[in-house]
Amino acid sequence: MVVLGAGPAGLTLGNLLQRSGIDCVVLERAERAHLVTRARAGFLAAHTVRILERHGLAEGLLRYGQAHSACEFRTEDGRFRLEYGGLGLGERHTVYPQQLLVGDLLTRFLAVGGRVEFGTEAVAVLDADTGRPSVAVREADGRPGRWQARYVAGCDGRHGAARRSLPAGAVRRYDCDHGVSWLGLLAEAPPSLDAVGYAVHERGFAGHMARTSEITRYYVQCERGTPADAWSEERIWEELELRMRAKEYGPLRRGPFVQRSVVDLESDVLEPLRHGALFLAGDAAALISPSAAKGANLAVLEAEMLARALTDDLLHGDPTGLDTYSARCLPYIWRAQEFSHWMIGLLHRPARPGADGSSPFHDALRRSRLASLRTSRSRQDWFAEHYVGV
Ligand code: APR
Repeated sequence: MVVLGAGPAGLTLGNLLQRSGIDCVVLERAERAHLVTRARAGFLAAHTVRILERHGLAEGLLRYGQAHSACEFRTEDGRFRLEYGGLGLGERHTVYPQQLLVGDLLTRFLAVGGRVEFGTEAVAVLDADTGRPSVAVREADGRPGRWQARYVAGCDGRHGAARRSLPAGAVRRYDCDHGVSWLGLLAEAPPSLDAVGYAVHERGFAGHMARTSEITRYYVQCERGTPADAWSEERIWEELELRMRAKEYGPLRRGPFVQRSVVDLESDVLEPLRHGALFLAGDAAALISPSAAKGANLAVLEAEMLARALTDDLLHGDPTGLDTYSARCLPYIWRAQEFSHWMIGLLHRPARPGADGSSPFHDALRRSRLASLRTSRSRQDWFAEHYVGV
């Protein structure tokens, strides 16, 4: 079995296969040091934690992760807090930086005899529609190579080789550009709120998400095409404080920004998640905007489903799980997409305003959406169920 990509999807899959006795190699373009330091997401849904726990992969996150169960909205109509841990299904997030999770998954995988080829870039998946697929690679020393396998799992993200290798017409892509961009920042500063903060402001969205006691993630909506280094640190803090209404609700705890990047909010879903012997999971299967932090959670869910299906096929000769893999995953993916899309509409002014640059009708709808979330218990239960769930 060849797995492309050592992110949450590829490493969860690798661990589950290896422990079932299925020989498995993970091909990863990056070096190990890069993987375990690359800051990404950090909010793990209760269901994700249960999956990882079930397979003995949750030790680090249970020890060091922080339970998280509240978010605060700051809007032109005041602020309100949702203690979502006590709403809906009563579930919480565990905040655990993704690079630590990847580090844990990697350590476990190597400990159970798994093999990772770092610095090895998959170039193309070949002959996926035959019984003998292979992966053409560029080895760490730059030479071309080839890996043969019964099945290939494409867990190499949105720009990976798995997607690129799909022949035209084999898979349909549903995509959406939300027309919104965020400047994503990692600040070396303690969190300023004990909740996820979502600020809706006429200047644009701003977000606050704790990572650890010393590191906080911030997002500031910016114009499409803004270079990541366009704003000075001072300007960013001023924008954050303005949009988060720090004068009314308290100052932000500042610190240097140790990482910044611009994210264009885009989503897509491929259907089906299979082409012959090539299966897609994680970002390679569906790209989800970070508005509701679903990406890593879907990746783990799909990896577990794919691992079970591969085990049934390879160890017990039962292909049913592989045949139904795509159809079983897609409802979860679409549900997460629908919620993330709804969140984007909740948190931003319309991306495609009218000719005069405004869209009062849509703006009023957004305020009404926030008001019903503030006042309607059934709306809050619905929010909590979808916010933490996958
Ligand atoms: N060959 C080998 N490895 C590759 C290639 C390639 N051609 N292209 C990409 N990769 C590797 C990347 O270096 C990365 O380590 O594939 C891995 C993909 O990992 P992620 O991007 O983390 O994707 P995934 O495992 O699907 O996790 C889903 O978590 O934080 C979120 O935004 C993130 O939603 C994403 C997620």
